[in-house]
Amino acid sequence: MDNKSRFPIFNWAVRKLRPVGAIDALAGGRIAGWAAGGSDVQIEAWLGNKCVVRSNTSILRRDVANAHPRLAGAETSGFAFDLPREAVEGDFLGELRILARVGRSWRPRATLATMQIAGAEAARALKQAPASGITGPFPPLVIDAVASRWPEDCAALGTVAGQRRFADRLLRLLRTPDLNAIPVIADYARFLVMMLAHCRFVARHFPATNTKAAVGSADFHCKPNSIHELFTIIHQLYVLKASGVRGDFAEFGCFKGYSTAMLSQACALLGLRMHVFDSFEGLPPSLDSGYEAGQYAGSLDEVQDHVARFGALDAVTFHKGFFADSLRHFTPPPLLCLWMDVDLESSAEDLLSAIDRLDPRGTLFSHECTATMFQNGEIVASPAPDNPVPPVMMRSEALGRPLTGRYVAGYTGAFWPRAGGTPVVDAAVLMELAEALILR
Ligand SMILES: C[S@@+](CC[C@H](N)C(=O)[O-])C[C@H]1O[C@@H](n2cnc3c(N)ncnc32)[C@H](O)[C@@H]1O
Repeated sequence: MDNKSRFPIFNWAVRKLRPVGAIDALAGGRIAGWAAGGSDVQIEAWLGNKCVVRSNTSILRRDVANAHPRLAGAETSGFAFDLPREAVEGDFLGELRILARVGRSWRPRATLATMQIAGAEAARALKQAPASGITGPFPPLVIDAVASRWPEDCAALGTVAGQRRFADRLLRLLRTPDLNAIPVIADYARFLVMMLAHCRFVARHFPATNTKAAVGSADFHCKPNSIHELFTIIHQLYVLKASGVRGDFAEFGCFKGYSTAMLSQACALLGLRMHVFDSFEGLPPSLDSGYEAGQYAGSLDEVQDHVARFGALDAVTFHKGFFADSLRHFTPPPLLCLWMDVDLESSAEDLLSAIDRLDPRGTLFSHECTATMFQNGEIVASPAPDNPVPPVMMRSEALGRPLTGRYVAGYTGAFWPRAGGTPVVDAAVLMELAEALILR
């Protein structure tokens, strides 16, 4: 049993005796807010172990008095003060705590806020971060910014632990006023926040069931992928574009357009063209795969309607037909990324000419992958009628680009050329980073 549950009356009393309040603004070293709960409420600003400002509440706050009519001192609970220049000068970066206490009494104090704060030099240094030469699964300029402050935390971006360390440091920058306004940092945060919100919207509102399939059949559910899987692809599109990799994005296999709805929105934000290849009649026949011809069918009209309502139709060019037919008549443009969710080995064989169009620094994502296929950078996949991975691996090898990769989530895996490819971030690290941005 913890102390909280052991002493409920004591804890109730502490809550009652503590002043309450909030910070309304922090800008350019000026802090404003309110605190009340006694006759003489004092405000303190602490940087580490040092109290750098003591101030009083005195400013008229009718809004607080209206909202808390029985709170002592609410009427004049406002405060505003400036942090002393010398406290946050140079490239200082640290935590500021704002406390409120009732006079010099024995009553418990309240923490109104803890926030990151930086000196003007810190923002300047970050803006002018030199090229670090470090490569990893994050946008290069974002890596350079973090490396300019914490090079040791950018040293192991090939490992999950290293990526998590990097993401923690990046979050500090993303939560620090002024530093988080620097273009490379703000652009990246905006993309993550907007796209995670969009993916959640699609996951919530996209039609859940296939009215043309029998209840219980494999294609009864219209949302076959998780946000973790699709958000990792979305993030990689940003990383590839930010790394200067050129080309369009291709999706093979769209069913009712669930993945297309999420991915097309990312393409619209990034100014990328998305090509969607599908029969729009479901799977072709295939022996011994366990799948039936016509499964996972979504008509072109149905998919376009879904993408118009849940994604960005203008960003998409549709290529209707079985892959072998479509690619006989159409050579895809150079591609920076290709995502295939095609269920069948034979379908992967039919799209191999698109693999040739993938940039040597580009990324391939495939469904039908399990975690056991990825063992210390080696890919272990045996040919089988329901395994689309071996044909694309063999094609990449024939192109002189043997692949490495990582498991993403669900049934999705990521692949990139061993030499010179752009690695993909761990899905859990990415989701933690993006979710932390939305939560705070
Ligand atoms: C599992 S579904 C794709 C699911 C989709 N990514 C989603 O998020 O809903 C497989 C899709 O691949 C398409 N497909 C598979 N093999 C094909 C082929 N050889 N030619 C054209 N389309 C094919 C099917 O029509 C179907 O739409």
